[in-house]
Amino acid sequence: MQIKEKINEIKSQFDSDFVLLSSDKIDKNTISYKYLGRKGLLSTIYPLLSSCDNKDKPKVGKLINDLKTYINDRLSSVESSQNSSDFNKAIDVTLPENILSSGSIHPLTKIVDEIESIFQKIGFSSVYGSEIETDYYNFEALNIPRHHPARDMQDTFYTDHSTLLRTHTSGSQIHHMENNTPPVRILSPGRVYRNEDISVRSYCLFHQIEGLYVDRNVTFSDLKSTLEYFAKEFFGSDIKTRFRPSYFPFTEPSAEMDVYWGLNNESDYRITKGTGWLEILGCGMVDPEVFKSVNYDTKIYSGFAFGLGIERIAMLKYGIDDIRLFYNGDIKFLRQFK
Ligand code: PHE
Repeated sequence: MQIKEKINEIKSQFDSDFVLLSSDKIDKNTISYKYLGRKGLLSTIYPLLSSCDNKDKPKVGKLINDLKTYINDRLSSVESSQNSSDFNKAIDVTLPENILSSGSIHPLTKIVDEIESIFQKIGFSSVYGSEIETDYYNFEALNIPRHHPARDMQDTFYTDHSTLLRTHTSGSQIHHMENNTPPVRILSPGRVYRNEDISVRSYCLFHQIEGLYVDRNVTFSDLKSTLEYFAKEFFGSDIKTRFRPSYFPFTEPSAEMDVYWGLNNESDYRITKGTGWLEILGCGMVDPEVFKSVNYDTKIYSGFAFGLGIERIAMLKYGIDDIRLFYNGDIKFLRQFK
């Protein structure tokens, strides 16, 4: 049957043209026009239909339609793959790469990590307390009863009459001693809050690390040598330190430790108030009143405690002269600590 042969012939011709398409020797529009155009090869089949038997016409009509669909489908498959190769060509490999920005460890976290590892070497482990604290743990158990003038040293944010945002990390001493028996060797880092005027040197929140050491026969000289060891490890072996007498209701005797930072530039003057010395921690021998509130036998045990100000230390170490930089999340500031 002549018409069927014609159809097969067009189909195989299309197939061989189609192969050329993939090698770019011929383009899709040319092929489409050649087969499907108004005067294309498919249009030459229709006149032959009239010479068909009527009963064969539907079958032959279907064959022609199938071929048309076949050609259309194959051509449109090329369309999509050609589009995607155009897309590939559209990538300009000379463009600068898109740099993924990664985060960095916050300078205060870095300082805490470093201090924890220095004290780990001499047997201190870390415990963490909560920032909302009761009046009992923040004051009372630390020998600061209500109406004691020492409460004025730390302006407190109360959440209700007996709960508050802790003003120091010292309450974690009480929590830990209530649940553990000596010997005790802990650090407790965390955030503390005080209702202070905000300035380059103070903020309404800051960070401390509490340290507590309790055992038999612990002396003030153990306290001094421990803190001197820390200062040398942290700031370098030629750092100068000094202890000044001080007062805290929960330690007796009490002291503050300064490190000598020098007066080499303007920011040193500002941070050290022109003295070259900067106070970095408060400390002292645990007051027997504190041991009583946790039922430690004061005839057997003695101990020392200290509280380090992290921001102070970070400002010293990195030469930062505005404490507020630690809290406002400025990426330009934070990126320097990568
Ligand atoms: N809690 C004191 C403060 O915030 C610091 C301190 C801790 C002092 C432990 C002595 C012992 O200022």
